[in-house]
Formats: sequence, C-alpha cells, structure tokens
Amino acid sequence: MEAQAIEDMFGVAVAASAEGRLDDAVAAFQAVLVMSPGHDEALFGLGLALMQTRRFAEAVEPLARAAAAPGAEPIRHQCLAQAQFLTGDFAGAAATFAAADAVEPVPEGARLTWARAAAYAALDTTSAQEALDLYARIAGSEAEDLETVARESFGILVAFQRLDAARALGAWLEAHNPADTIRAHELRVLVEPGIDRAPASYVEALFDGFAERFDHQLVDMLGYEAPALLAEMIASRRQQFERILDLGCGTGLAGPHLKRFGGRLTGVDLSSGMLAKAAERGGYYALVQDEAVTFLESHPGAFDLIVSADVLIYFGDLGPVFAAAAAALPPGGLMAFSTELGQGDGWTLLPSARYAHGDAYIRDSASGFRVLERQEIPLRREGADVTVGCLYLLERI
Ligand SMILES: C[S@@+](CC[C@H](N)C(=O)[O-])C[C@H]1O[C@@H](n2cnc3c(N)ncnc32)[C@H](O)[C@@H]1O
Repeated sequence: MEAQAIEDMFGVAVAASAEGRLDDAVAAFQAVLVMSPGHDEALFGLGLALMQTRRFAEAVEPLARAAAAPGAEPIRHQCLAQAQFLTGDFAGAAATFAAADAVEPVPEGARLTWARAAAYAALDTTSAQEALDLYARIAGSEAEDLETVARESFGILVAFQRLDAARALGAWLEAHNPADTIRAHELRVLVEPGIDRAPASYVEALFDGFAERFDHQLVDMLGYEAPALLAEMIASRRQQFERILDLGCGTGLAGPHLKRFGGRLTGVDLSSGMLAKAAERGGYYALVQDEAVTFLESHPGAFDLIVSADVLIYFGDLGPVFAAAAAALPPGGLMAFSTELGQGDGWTLLPSARYAHGDAYIRDSASGFRVLERQEIPLRREGADVTVGCLYLLERI
C-alpha cells in the first residue's frame, strides 16, 4: 500500500517537473522523501527542481545524497558539482567533478565549470598564474582566453566574498592590462575602503561596456524593478509634474514608468553607450551626457521631480548629491531614489565597488529635504542571494 503511495507521489512529482510546475515538483518530491527518506531518484529530482528554482544552497544536500547512492550515474555528480560551484564551494565542486570524470569523462560545457572551480580553489594556495594554468589544463581544447577567464572570475570571486583570491586575480589582470580602468578601480576598492565616490572614468567605461546587455541582465536575469516601484511610490503622492529629471537614466528603463506624470522628461548620464540605448527607447525630451552632481549644480530650480534609480550606489558621500538636488528643486519638489541598504548612520564601500547606505545616514545627510516615504525592497539578485534595497521619496522643504 505504502509502496503504491510512494510510486504515485513520485509520478506526481515527475509530471509536475516535466510541466515546469517546479514548486509543485519540490513539494511532491519532498512528500516522497517523507515516506521513503532514502529514495535516491526523489532526492535527485528534488535537487534538480531546487536548482531550476535557483535555490542552489538547498539543492546541495539532496544532490549529494543522490550522488552517494550505489551505482549513481555521473550526471548526478555533475549536477552536485554545479550546485557546489553556484554556492561558492569551489573546492567541493572541483573534487566532485574529478570524481565524476574518473567514472565517465565530464562533458565539454561542464568541463569549463570544473576548470574554473579548480582554479578558484587553487587561488587559496597558489599564485594566480598557477591557478590559471590549472584552468587551462583541465579545460583542454575548450579553454577560453585566460584574460577573459580572469576578468569574469574576478567578479565572481568578489560576489562570493573570496576577496584574497579576487585580489590575486586583480593584480594579475592589472599586470597584463594596466590600461583597464574598470579593473584598476575594482581592485583599488578591495584595498582602499575610504574612496567616497566611483570615479567618472570608471562609471563611464563600465556602463559603456554594459549598455548592450544591461536590460536583459538587470531585468530578466536579476529581477530588477526599482524604476517601476519608484514610479508607484511617487504616484501615491502626486500624479502630475511638469519638469522631470531621470538622474543616471541609463538605458531609460524608468522612462515608460515616468510617462504617467506628463511633463518633459530629461535624462542625464555619464555613459554615452547607455544614453544611446535610452534614445532608442524614446520618451525623453532631452538626453544629456554629464556627471550627475555637475548637471544638478548647473540647473538651479529647474525640475519638479528628480528620480534616480540605482545610481546613488555609485556615491559613498551623498552630501554633495543632496545639496545639488535641493538646489535643483523648488520647495515642494520631490526626489525619489533607491539605495542598497546598509548599516546604521554611515556608508560602506562594498567589494562590488558599489555603496550601501544606512537609513540613519540618508536621513542625516538629506538636509533640505523631508522623508515622505521609505520602503525596503529586493533590489536585485546577486549570486545566490538577493540584495536588499531601499526606496525613498523626499520632499524639498
Ligand atoms: C545601474 S545603472 C541604472 C540606470 C537606470 N537609472 C535604471 O534604473 O535602469 C546606473 C547608471 O548611473 C549612471 N551613473 C553612475 N554614476 C553617475 C554619475 N556620477 N553621474 C551620472 N551618471 C552616473 C551610470 O552611467 C549608469 O547608467
């Protein structure tokens, strides 16, 4: 009787999985495991469904148990290794891939992940050059260009807080390409936490290179919704504005959301690549390439609403931004923006080269403004985590 119930529930889980109803599949596989805790196919199915829903950390345990079953197929080891990699357990992933490879050669695409996992793990004990040589040996004929690998890996290691390993790779990159302003700043951030603003040259180079992928990366991959949420927050207070500034407009993601307020929309950004994308999207009365504070300072009283989504994360000290924004708004004017949520009454330069701001810091430094609203939101996905953001709506006093 129980065997039948297990089989039926397993069938439900497999069907849900095949139909892409992944939460149902997770629940059904878990129900199988309540009845039959060692059911290795259910463990594997559960691990896969959790991976597909990006719950990588939760997937590791069932995948490890599924891979430990006698005679487990190599694919189970490969999936476990992927989950270990995606949770930052690079040594574990490398060891699992090596064990799988001993049974059956790891296929090409997965081999590149193995090579990276082994290199990242090796950075704990060897030089960057030796780690990259190890990457090349494991990747074999599939190996990507080592500078590309090092550049991408630097970001991944920072995201996983493996800062010593990131510093070692950063130094290798700097030695191989001293003209790379992006990497130079990102490496500097790891050794000088007092830098109070991202340099304009860094922001410009970073976003010029990012413009083409930005919308797909932020919206589709990272679940970014700050522009829409800020527009909602503004609309709950006021529905009409004549002169609107999208400060750090990027590709113009906020444009369609700000249309509801009528008025003329000006976009300002440092990156010509991002501005070109905003121009393609349309909806802007004017698009200006300028630095945010410089632009605000040269436009006293020129706007009724300033919106700045995911831009103040490139400033540590917000005093100059708020002073310039206050001067650019008349009394009663509104400023809406997002931050990455930090601690207490200060700002922190994060290893990602962005800044987080404590709520008390925002309230203390926004002189000339009154805080009308504040809302914590999931700002964007970051590695296996979600970065917590904060939306603010301020009124010029
Ligand atoms: C993460 S993007 C956000 C873009 C857009 N606001 C959105 O929500 O999609 C940050 C943008 O701010 C711009 N930016 C950063 N610092 C800036 C500054 N000091 N002056 C002008 N633009 C800046 C960058 O060039 C980039 O386009």
